Amino acid sequence: MDLKGIQLTWLGHASFRIETPGGKTIYVDPWVMGNPMCPEKDKTVKKADALLCTHGHGDHIGDAVEIAIKHNAVAVGIPELCAWLKKKGVEQIAQMNKGGTQTVAGVRITMVHADHSCGIFDGDQVIYGGEAVGYVMEFENGVKIYHAGDTNVFGDMQIIRDLYAPEIAMLPIGDLYTMSPREAAYACKLLKSKYVIPMHFGTFPLLTGRPSELQKLAPDVEVFEMTPGVTIS
Ligand code: NI
Ligand code: MN
Repeated sequence: MDLKGIQLTWLGHASFRIETPGGKTIYVDPWVMGNPMCPEKDKTVKKADALLCTHGHGDHIGDAVEIAIKHNAVAVGIPELCAWLKKKGVEQIAQMNKGGTQTVAGVRITMVHADHSCGIFDGDQVIYGGEAVGYVMEFENGVKIYHAGDTNVFGDMQIIRDLYAPEIAMLPIGDLYTMSPREAAYACKLLKSKYVIPMHFGTFPLLTGRPSELQKLAPDVEVFEMTPGVTIS
């Protein structure tokens, strides 16, 4: 996989740290400190310019407020989720909705559909968090990465392929709360990305899907299994 200068680190679950060719640090679904798959060395966030939030579940935005405040990072998300983040003290907000594109930290970010729930569990309340989303990121060097967020497979993934043609797709495969390898294999057919990075599996015993199963079911795609904390570039 040629990332042309992008430094990509999986922090376990759906959380990724991306250092862009322009020197910015982006977190997608910043769940770091409380993430049992995140190596100790990566639990200390040194720099964060933008946080891309796919939805309001704790295993995705668990550390968003703390990181955004500490590093003055821009939080990207759907308006209802951004309103909640703002209420919690996040000052820099770049809200958007599905279908929209904006440039944050030098990256062209398009918010795309995901099929999942998005309540924010805040104390003893469940707050409406908008809808769950995915993101297509187009970096300065032309590389396009799709992070699907939490979702099942849906036919409009074909629209994502037709319009954005991401060469790398980060897909959940754990089953139960998201796609299983069977659904993810179907997603691979729709997306036709060259590489698929499996995520949202193995964090808890219930998330049983495994990259090897996906590779068996989707022989035409290269399933690229990352190791938490190991940076590829
Ligand atoms: Ni979720
Ligand atoms: Mn999740």
